[in-house]
Amino acid sequence: MVDFLNGLERTHKCGELRGSDIDKQVTVMGFVAKYRNLGNLLFIDLRDISGVVQVAFDDQVDKAVFDKATAIRNEFVIAVTGKVRSRGSNINKNMPTGEVEILASDLRILSEAEVTPFVITEDMKVGEQLRLKYRYLDLRRNYLQSKLVMRDKITRVVRNYLADNGFLEIETPFLGKSTPEGARDYLVPSRVHNGEFYALPQSPQLFKQLLMIAGMDRYYQIARCFRDEDLRANRQPEFSQIDLEMSYVENNEQVMAIAEGLIKKVFKECLGMDITEKFRRIPYSEAMEKWGSDKPDTRFDLQLKNLSDIVKDCSFSVFTGAIADGGSVRAINAKGLCSKMTRKEVDACGEFVKSYGAKGLAYAMLREDGSVTSSILKFLTEEQQKAIFEAMDAQKGDILFFVADKDKVVFDSLGALRCYLADKYELYDKSKYDFLWVVDFPLLEYDAEEDRYVAVHHPFTSAIVEDIPLLDTDPLKVRSNAYDMVINGQEAGGGSIRIHDWHMQEKIFSLLGFSQKDIEERFGFFVDAFKYGAPPHGGLAFGLDRLTMLVTGTDNIKDVIAFPKVQNASCLMTGAPAPVEEKQLKELALNIDKKTNL
Ligand code: AMO
Ligand code: AMP
Repeated sequence: MVDFLNGLERTHKCGELRGSDIDKQVTVMGFVAKYRNLGNLLFIDLRDISGVVQVAFDDQVDKAVFDKATAIRNEFVIAVTGKVRSRGSNINKNMPTGEVEILASDLRILSEAEVTPFVITEDMKVGEQLRLKYRYLDLRRNYLQSKLVMRDKITRVVRNYLADNGFLEIETPFLGKSTPEGARDYLVPSRVHNGEFYALPQSPQLFKQLLMIAGMDRYYQIARCFRDEDLRANRQPEFSQIDLEMSYVENNEQVMAIAEGLIKKVFKECLGMDITEKFRRIPYSEAMEKWGSDKPDTRFDLQLKNLSDIVKDCSFSVFTGAIADGGSVRAINAKGLCSKMTRKEVDACGEFVKSYGAKGLAYAMLREDGSVTSSILKFLTEEQQKAIFEAMDAQKGDILFFVADKDKVVFDSLGALRCYLADKYELYDKSKYDFLWVVDFPLLEYDAEEDRYVAVHHPFTSAIVEDIPLLDTDPLKVRSNAYDMVINGQEAGGGSIRIHDWHMQEKIFSLLGFSQKDIEERFGFFVDAFKYGAPPHGGLAFGLDRLTMLVTGTDNIKDVIAFPKVQNASCLMTGAPAPVEEKQLKELALNIDKKTNL
């Protein structure tokens, strides 16, 4: 039999009690985190969202309450009334409430608990699968609760900041038509229109632009987005964006100023950080050249250097071949790592870059004794070696890593290798934040598989005015009015100034290979809207989950989402996705082909 509250109200949260509360009569409620029965004294650690407080039951003080307390087990939900007293010489300096305990005079058992699948402690070593199956138990830990508390704080700061800047929070539909953002859509079959499907939004992109055309001036939304893409440590199939759009802007800087102000406000309010300087603006081409990435982590050096000119006539056919094919040979200098890395670890780097498409990783280890161990020096003249060492600022104790390939492969592999090395050998201060913008992205890139141009950002992004003539002559050279905010090497957000002239929008659609029929079927409503007056506009979306990860210092996106999905997009707690009843399928006129339903 459990007790009712029967009007009993909590006076304090567990984690709030301090020395200044001594002698107060209090009532707290929470989960039992720990109990110790010493025979005539019984101690409980009581946990709620604010923290943990110790409760003491003394059979000399109240035998009935003490006897009742002996039935308590971990995770029982209880209410305790009693007097706060000092712990005397037993003060626990590791607990914020460690100076005090509550001497219980009344106990209500509000809910009993079976033995939980794992003991819930902050430092438990329990596999992620089991924790996700019982997510509501894992969530009882301060480690996760504090992150959701911070997420709430971030969204509040965001709402206030955007409201103060004239943005209206407006909701847009979940059941919509597919928006082309590059990932696969999650589809929802229609019962009323058999054979037809809604698509869950990959982002509210079209709707927010239509809101500008509707004259809403400035919009924002904490928007849930759905993308059926391969998951990684910082990606979920459904995630949240802080999505915003504003009218009467035609310059990147106008949107970037709002967005930068928002991030500064979030870091100030949530972490007490004063960021006074303007974030660095790095052109895309420079980001690729120096860091091999459009989201460079510049907290550590390890910059890429192009050695193509030096090695173009060497006798290593891999190098000369890559250059002849229009690629390059580039290298990074892992300063001082020569004595820290074994040959095995150097070989592991070779394996690492293969996942980025590199066919090999050449190296030169400059030993402290002046000797050099290298897989490729034999192919280089002394002069070429000297030129390389000079270009790389190579000294005793350094290791150089080289990749020769098409530029994309070289950038991807060395860009990833520098982050891998910096992480593994702790080459930077992880508590520091590195904020920057990447700008001047190309508008289009060529997709060899589809044999057509695709938009680097999305098809509604405008071109830099001075580059517009290149659309007809050299489309790949056209730079866009897009910008990404990068924090610690992660893309925290991105956006652009949009095309607001429908002639231009049609031109871009046709460059992207959409036929007139495609345009009409897929975006007819959108293009039409521009014909009735469209203010110049632009916007951006931050990944709220990623921002919360950065603020709370975790590299696992699941830590900042209450009920996340795992790598294969399933929910281990609810079992979603799951088969549905035959009746439901019939209503939707759907037939499942079991053979192809992998
Ligand atoms: P984009 O596709 O760059 O832009 O998305 C904006 C931000 O959303 C976050 N993000 C994700 N977070 C978690 N899991 C994912 N699968 C995921 N995918 C993206 C990133 C990213 O920077 N409509 C445009 C924005 C605009 O132009 O205004 C858009 O969606 O932090
Ligand atoms: P090999 O002569 O094939 O044994 O290669 C000599 C060295 O060059 C080895 O360390 C290879 O890993 C490296 N290597 C092979 N292909 C490439 C490449 N595309 N870029 C950089 N290094 C490479």
